[in-house]
Formats: sequence, C-alpha cells, structure tokens
Amino acid sequence: MTTEATEATEVRAAAARVVAAVAGGESLDAALPREAARVVARDRALLAELCYGTLRWYPRLTAILDRLLARPLKSRDGDLRALLATALYQLEHTRIPPHAVVHETVAACRALAKPWATGLVNALLRNAQRRRPQLDAALAEDLAYRSAHPPWLARLLAADWPREAEAVMVANNARAPMTLRINQRRTDRAAYLELLAAAGIEARPATHSAAGILLGSPRAVAELPGFAAGLVSVQDEAAQLCAPLLAPGQRLLDACCAPGGKTGHLLELAPDGAELVAIDNSRQRLALVADNLDRLGLQARLLDADAGAPETWWDGTPFDRILLDAPCSATGVLRRHPDIKLLRRAGDIAKLAAAQRRLLLALWELLAPGGLLLYATCSVLCAENDAVVATLTAARADARPLPLPGIPGAATAAGRQWLPGTDDNDGFYYALLEKR
Ligand SMILES: C[S@@+](CC[C@H](N)C(=O)[O-])C[C@H]1O[C@@H](n2cnc3c(N)ncnc32)[C@H](O)[C@@H]1O
Repeated sequence: MTTEATEATEVRAAAARVVAAVAGGESLDAALPREAARVVARDRALLAELCYGTLRWYPRLTAILDRLLARPLKSRDGDLRALLATALYQLEHTRIPPHAVVHETVAACRALAKPWATGLVNALLRNAQRRRPQLDAALAEDLAYRSAHPPWLARLLAADWPREAEAVMVANNARAPMTLRINQRRTDRAAYLELLAAAGIEARPATHSAAGILLGSPRAVAELPGFAAGLVSVQDEAAQLCAPLLAPGQRLLDACCAPGGKTGHLLELAPDGAELVAIDNSRQRLALVADNLDRLGLQARLLDADAGAPETWWDGTPFDRILLDAPCSATGVLRRHPDIKLLRRAGDIAKLAAAQRRLLLALWELLAPGGLLLYATCSVLCAENDAVVATLTAARADARPLPLPGIPGAATAAGRQWLPGTDDNDGFYYALLEKR
C-alpha cells in the first residue's frame, strides 16, 4: 500500500477519535488540535472538515446508524461508532467516491486497533448505500433525523419560535462565513476592502455592522493584510452590534470578557481617556484577552474574578456602561460550534439561566443612575434571554428596557432576538437596560 493510502486511513481514524472524544464530553476546540498534530499537515483541512461535518449532522447520522446496526455497539467501541458516523457523513454530504469511503473506513478499523470490526463496517456501509430510500422513509418522522438537532433542543426551538424553528435549524446546519471587524482606530472599511482586493481576497461589506466585512471564503488569519498589526479582528456580525450600543462611555465594565472580542470593540469605539475594566473567571481565557488587546494596541484593566461577586473586586465607583455578555447555551452559534449539539443537555438550560440571573442582578447594583447595561447572549432560547431580563425588571423598578431600532431581528418583550441565518449571521439576543 502507498503512503498516501496510509495517510487517508490515518485521517479517518483521527476524525473518529475526535468525534468519539466529543461524544464523551470533550469540546471540539480541545480534541481537534490534539489529533491534528498527529496527521500530516496537508490532511489537517480534511480532518477538520470530517470532524465539523460529522458533528454538524451527528444526530441524523446516528439515527441512521442505529437503524443499520443489528445490535448496539459496546460502550468501549465509541471510536467505532464515531468512525461509522464519519463514514456516513462522507457518503451523505461530500463528493468523496463511495468506494473510497468504504475502503478507507474499513482500513481505519485496523488503525484503531479493531481489525475484528472490518467485516461489520464493510457490510454496514454497503447496506447504508443500498437501503437509502427505505431508511429515508422509515426515519421520516424521527425528529433527530429530520432536524439534525438533539430532540430536546428541536422541541425547545419549536416552542420558542413556532414559525421560525425550521429555518433556524436549517441555518444551524449550514457553514458559517468568516466575518471581520475593522479596527476603526487604525483603518476604515473602504480602505481595508481595498487591501483585501489587492491581496486577491474576495470580500463584501456586512449589512448591519458598519465595521463588518464578510469574506468570500474562510482564510487563516495570517493571510489577512495587517492582522498582526491590529487592523482587523475576526467577529461575527451579530456580535459586532453589541459595542456600538454602549458607545460612548467613560467608565466601562465588560463583565464576562474572554476571549475579548467585544472588549476590543468597546475600546476601539471608546472616547480618549475612557477606562475599561474587563473581568473573566477563567484565567486561561483571560490570557487570550490580553493577547487580543496587545495586537489591537488597546488597554484595559483585566481581572480574574467572579463578576457575580463584586464585593471581591469592585472599588465602589459606579460604571456608566456595563456589558454582560453572559455565559449561555450558545444555541445561536451551532453552525460554528456543532459540538454543542452533543455537549449540551436539556438540564443545562435552567442552570445557565440561574447563573445569568445571578450575574445580572449583581451587576445592576454597579451601574450609575442614567447608565446603560447591555445584557447579551448567543442563545436563541427565551429562558436565557427575555425570562432572565424579566427577573431584573420585576425586582428593580429603576430598570427600563430601551427599544433597539437599529438591531435586526424580532422585537421581544425586553429586547431583540436576531435568529441565525437571516443575513448569514449567528443567533444573538440583546436587551439594553437604562437605570432610571
Ligand atoms: C459568552 S463568553 C464571553 C465572550 C466575550 N464577551 C467576547 O466577546 O469575546 C462568556 C464568558 O463568561 C465567563 N464567565 C462565566 N461565568 C463567569 C463569572 N461568574 N464571572 C466572570 N466571568 C464568567 C466565561 O469564562 C466566558 O469566557
């Protein structure tokens, strides 16, 4: 066998290990780099494609798999289940010739030290191709198969967004564009679009963010003109709409700041002399904020602390602007983080909402009269959005939600929900609260 055949097999085995790790609870961001280091450089893009694609369609692929397996695989064979899911992904969603998919997947059983499974894998993949129309009919009513979402999430989306849920799930299964935000302290959008054109990079201005640029296809940041010099950052358009809602402020708090996307934007828009305190309770992630600000040539006071326990870090001087970009289910960014489909559980939502309420109620006390607090999440679930804000407005008569006419999406009781996909955007929720 040639080296090339071996490499093609290795990349399938590596993809299976990544998908099995995610199915076991590890994030894709943690699992993928580990396996990428084990395959040859030219196969890393294929490895990422196999992992992202398989996870994107995982609920559907495993629904098919469960129909095809005569008996469930043992729990110690999670890698084999993941290998079969990656093979079904290739058969269903790529142009890789089916005979190559079957051949490499069978060979990958040996690379995973499971030679006993070659016959089973070969038969199952041939069956999958032969029985495609019957499988489609048999699974037509299966929610996981139809939506490629975990059933609990598909049901929650349908309850919260009865008219839009189908389109939201289609958008969640699409690939996300790469979107840039220009650093208006260093360049302007027209000038940067010219730099991109000169570098042969196709791009267009974003529709709603004055600083936004959508690339025709994703690139490594090192290929972007002036990236290291802080001319641009990578940030979805929906996220870019937060900082302008808080400009201009003199004393700002970014309460859950890492990795610093919005910290940088707040500072790019802040007037000279403005002060920004940026907090995160993950020291590791706070280091990313420092790196981002260094690259952009911006400064903030970074604190590794619990934003919900201000008595441990606050000096008592109120803030006139607060951003609470709360930790959330990330159900608005499934297309960028398809591993969330496997990692989140139905029970997480109530726990996240409790943490969000705690943060919002605590931070409200730090806001100066007349000040603004933006509560934002990349969730599309009402329990994490309007319902959280309703807790504050019920408890505090001085909290008044402001209208958000410049923000796209649906007006909700307290803010606005931009659902994923309408403008090739992530899903995002915004509620701007004024302290009377
Ligand atoms: C949605 S992310 C923030 C994204 C960030 N604003 C940006 O634009 O790059 C939420 C962050 O909240 C942090 N976090 C969670 N609980 C926290 C707490 N109690 N206090 C401070 N930070 C917290 C997490 O570590 C995570 O980095």
